[in-house]
Amino acid sequence: MNIPMLDLKAQYETIKEEINEKVLGVMASQNFILGAEVAALEEEIAASSGARFGIGVSSGSDALIISLMALGIGPGDTVVTTPFTFFATAGAIARLGARTVFCDIDPVTYNIDPASCEEVLNSLSKKRRRLRVKAILPVHLYGQCADMDPLLKLAGKGGYWIVEDAAQAIGSEYPGRNGLRRAGTMGIAGTLSFYPSKNLGGYGDGGMVLTDNARLADKLRMLRVHGGIAKYHYKILGGNFRLDALQAAILRVKFRHLDDWQEKRRSRADYYTRKFAESGLEGSGLVKPPLAVYKGCGARHYHTYHQYVVRVKNRGRLQACLKTKGIGTSVFYPLSLHQQKCFADLGYKKGDFPVSERAAREVLALPIYPELTPEQQDYIVETIREFYA
Ligand SMILES: Cc1ncc(COP(=O)(O)O)c(C=O)c1O
Repeated sequence: MNIPMLDLKAQYETIKEEINEKVLGVMASQNFILGAEVAALEEEIAASSGARFGIGVSSGSDALIISLMALGIGPGDTVVTTPFTFFATAGAIARLGARTVFCDIDPVTYNIDPASCEEVLNSLSKKRRRLRVKAILPVHLYGQCADMDPLLKLAGKGGYWIVEDAAQAIGSEYPGRNGLRRAGTMGIAGTLSFYPSKNLGGYGDGGMVLTDNARLADKLRMLRVHGGIAKYHYKILGGNFRLDALQAAILRVKFRHLDDWQEKRRSRADYYTRKFAESGLEGSGLVKPPLAVYKGCGARHYHTYHQYVVRVKNRGRLQACLKTKGIGTSVFYPLSLHQQKCFADLGYKKGDFPVSERAAREVLALPIYPELTPEQQDYIVETIREFYA
């Protein structure tokens, strides 16, 4: 069997006619930049997320940059975030000349650990008054929300913004003090990515910022067109952060299928987890399936499984073995951000964030997509079982 880590062609086959028709419609209109398709997508995604505004932008990375820009974050400011995430999270902070301060993660969810965040914030306020903390940037990793209530409390206490990196978690729900909330709508702003591999992926780059704040939304709309208020009149310094009409049109078609795809991801994830229990791999501690921690709280999308990530023993050898058997896997992420060369000037060293570093050594993402069949999943679990046997 040959089971790729991701099979976008299989998905395209199921929606080909709808997509092609929409794409041809945009071609016929010859309107490519922003416009009606982008506005409609913004409305649809904001409404389903429960946010007042959606601002379509050029990528998930740019959604982060533009959100921090809109909040006026720059040199002299500090943003606290997780080291166990895709580069863009901390990259956005650094690009604006602000300082990234990391805290460790929770070993079960791999999301930012509120206790570690609190510790870091306390030490910053005591020792390093120079580092003006402006925001906390939690990431909803793999499709499961970070534990937002304690983070919101910390932010409220310290007067910090919360910007949520929801690139991997469109539609994921968090059961908090304020009821069931969707990823990206709990802080002042939340960012989404439409990178092709995401649960809602375009056919190119794209992203969105969600917010309830009308003034921030206006500023974001201005910033994405170079800071312009009218053609060739610029009020603030922005950039080209626009989402294009072709991507929006494609995303609107795909968005109609998203709920169905999310359910399918969930059922594939449950199937894996059941099989890992039945095979004895979980019991023996060789494979640790992901835990949907908010399960049972009534949330339908407590985890949207952007990735199905297991912790394993002998990861390198297992991954190589799976490859020879035709099974694609990935490691998200093999090196914590505090250990990346480009962040050397932050002064961190190996051992500073042990939970994150251990995760980086042990996690392995298995194929998960709506088109994955039980036969393929059985083959994957059986191959893993044989490897350990
Ligand atoms: C957690 C996280 N943040 C930010 C991004 C950046 O999104 P994009 O690739 O659309 O720029 C990604 C996407 O890969 C991501 O996974």
